[in-house]
Amino acid sequence: MLCVDHLGLGRRGREIVDGVGFNIEAGWALQIHGSNGCGKTTLLRALAGMLPPAAGSVRWRGMNVHAQPERFRRERAYVGHSNGLSDDLSVLENLRFAALLGVNPGSSRDARMHERDVLETAGLWTLRHARVGSLSQGQRRRVALARVMLERKPLWLLDEPAEALDDAAQAWLADALDEHLQDGGIVVATTHLRLPTAVARTQHLQLQLQLERGGS
Ligand SMILES: Nc1ncnc2c1ncn2[C@@H]1O[C@H](COP(=O)(O)OP(=O)(O)OP(=O)(O)O)[C@@H](O)[C@H]1O
Ligand SMILES: [Mg+2]
Repeated sequence: MLCVDHLGLGRRGREIVDGVGFNIEAGWALQIHGSNGCGKTTLLRALAGMLPPAAGSVRWRGMNVHAQPERFRRERAYVGHSNGLSDDLSVLENLRFAALLGVNPGSSRDARMHERDVLETAGLWTLRHARVGSLSQGQRRRVALARVMLERKPLWLLDEPAEALDDAAQAWLADALDEHLQDGGIVVATTHLRLPTAVARTQHLQLQLQLERGGS
C-alpha cells in the first residue's frame, strides 16, 4: 500500500537520504531508526507529501503522493515534533476541527461517543475545555495523538510518538497502535525509544548519517 522506491531527499542542496526503498502492507508498522540528524524527520515529512523528493517516488495505493497532495492528505495523519495544534483553541475544539477533515467521521452520535471514549482513555476528558496553550508537553502530545485516532485515516505517520509521554500514556498509545494495525491500518514511526506496541508485524529501517555513509 505504501511503496517507496529509490527515494532521495535533500535539504538546501545537501543530500540527506539516498536510495531508500520499502513496501508496507495493511496491518504492518515500520519503525525508522537512526542517530540524531540522520534524516528520520526528513524522510517522514517526505512520506507525508510535505517535502518533494530529489529522486525516486512515494506511492500510496498506487498514487504518487507528491503529484496528488490534497487527495493523499485525506488518507494520512501526521504528527511532527511540534504537535500541530492551535494553542488558542481548547482540546475539544482542536479535535473537532480535525475530525471534520477526517475521511470517515461517521454519524454525529457515533462520532461523539468515539470522541468521549478516546478522550477518557487518553486521560484528557477533564481537560477537554482547557486551552491547549495551557497544557504540559505530555498533555499536548496526548491531544495530538488523540487527534490522529479521531481522524480515522488509514496511514499514521508519527515522529517520535512516545516523546514526553508517561508510562500510562505509552500504554494507551500502544493499545491504539495495536487496534489500528489490527483494523488494517499502517503505522510509520520514527523513534529513539522502542515503539510501544506488542504487534509482531513491525519492519525496521535503519538510516545512517551522511558522514557515516562517507558523504561530504
Ligand atoms: N529545515 C531544514 N533546513 C535545512 N536543513 C535541515 C532542516 N531540517 C533538518 N535539516 C538537516 O537535515 C538533516 C536531517 O535532519 P532530521 O531532522 O531529518 O534528522 P532526524 O533524524 O529526525 O534527527 P532527530 O533524531 O534529532 O530528530 C540534519 O543534518 C539537519 O541539519
Ligand atoms: Mg527528527
